[in-house]
Amino acid sequence: MNKLGVAVVGTGFWGKNHARNYKELDNTNLVAICDVNAERAKAIADQYGVKAYTDSTEMLKDPEIQAVSICTWSIKLAEEALKGLNAGKHVLVEKPMAIDLKQAQKLLDTAKENDLHLSVGFLMRFIPGLQQIREAVATKKIGELVSANAKRVTQWPERIGDVGVVKDTAIHDIDVMRFISGEDPVSVYAKMGSMRHRQFEDYAQIMLTYESGKTAFIESNWLTPYRIRALNVTGSEAIMRLDYNSQELWIENAKESVQPRIPFEEPLKAELKHFAECVTEKKKPMITGEDGYKALEIALASMESSTKNTVVKLKR
Ligand SMILES: NC(=O)c1ccc[n+]([C@@H]2O[C@H](COP(=O)([O-])OP(=O)(O)OC[C@H]3O[C@@H](n4cnc5c(N)ncnc54)[C@H](O)[C@@H]3O)[C@@H](O)[C@H]2O)c1
Repeated sequence: MNKLGVAVVGTGFWGKNHARNYKELDNTNLVAICDVNAERAKAIADQYGVKAYTDSTEMLKDPEIQAVSICTWSIKLAEEALKGLNAGKHVLVEKPMAIDLKQAQKLLDTAKENDLHLSVGFLMRFIPGLQQIREAVATKKIGELVSANAKRVTQWPERIGDVGVVKDTAIHDIDVMRFISGEDPVSVYAKMGSMRHRQFEDYAQIMLTYESGKTAFIESNWLTPYRIRALNVTGSEAIMRLDYNSQELWIENAKESVQPRIPFEEPLKAELKHFAECVTEKKKPMITGEDGYKALEIALASMESSTKNTVVKLKR
């Protein structure tokens, strides 16, 4: 098999999982990793028998590296992704991709100019239950889509110099709503605030409305003392419920409740395998740079809505 040469920039809590999966996958060859923390870079590189760097510019000179995962702090994602694209590497950048739309647009333009793949780490799309919900909505197995409700709450320690719960956490569900409905919302209304985290918002309630009248509601926080990650989708004929933690799915109508047996799959492994396949076979990835841009645009509009206490219309 033609293996894609890959590297990871940022090997903290999440980036080390990218490194492990690239090492384990059949279609990738982990060549190097980079972290500004030299001790961490060396530890992860030694674990996987690859080269360690503390400066990505140096690492990107290696022609064996064809693609990079960017898993740095959120405020550094766009800068590192741009370095990768300018060095001629395909890029999978973690969410939220960028801090503002100008940075995100620059990534889209650079990827296009250089004919490179740009994908964003919206992992939820690789959970089989969510794919079944999308299919059920598209084929009207649950009738007409009426509304969807997402809850992603947990207790989270303060993260310094990073981003708030909207760009870090709610953005997953913003993308999920786009994914399952196949549509962009036309407006957003949100309320959010900061209860325990000093610098950024740590709770948010976001309501999206669609041209057809359907709605989506997203609740996210870093305050609830236990972890819930769930999605409820209401159709005119049936409802579907997904527990992201267990990956269990339920389909219920007036007569019965069915729970399909779905084998558990590590979504990150599926995501990285798909990314490598798309690069190698020159296929469009399931998640494009545009998807990252759109989700960020909605996240930013929700923040504006909360600040101004008004509905914000979204450009189409
Ligand atoms: N898709 C998902 O489900 C998911 C889950 C967790 C985290 N993430 C994303 O992954 C990113 C990392 O999150 P984390 O929890 O691992 O954070 P972390 O703080 O644990 O790790 C970030 C690492 O990046 C390194 N770093 C920062 N700037 C760098 C640079 N310019 N060059 C090289 N290394 C650099 C830091 O030293 C640190 O080791 C965030 O953007 C986060 O949103 C995504």
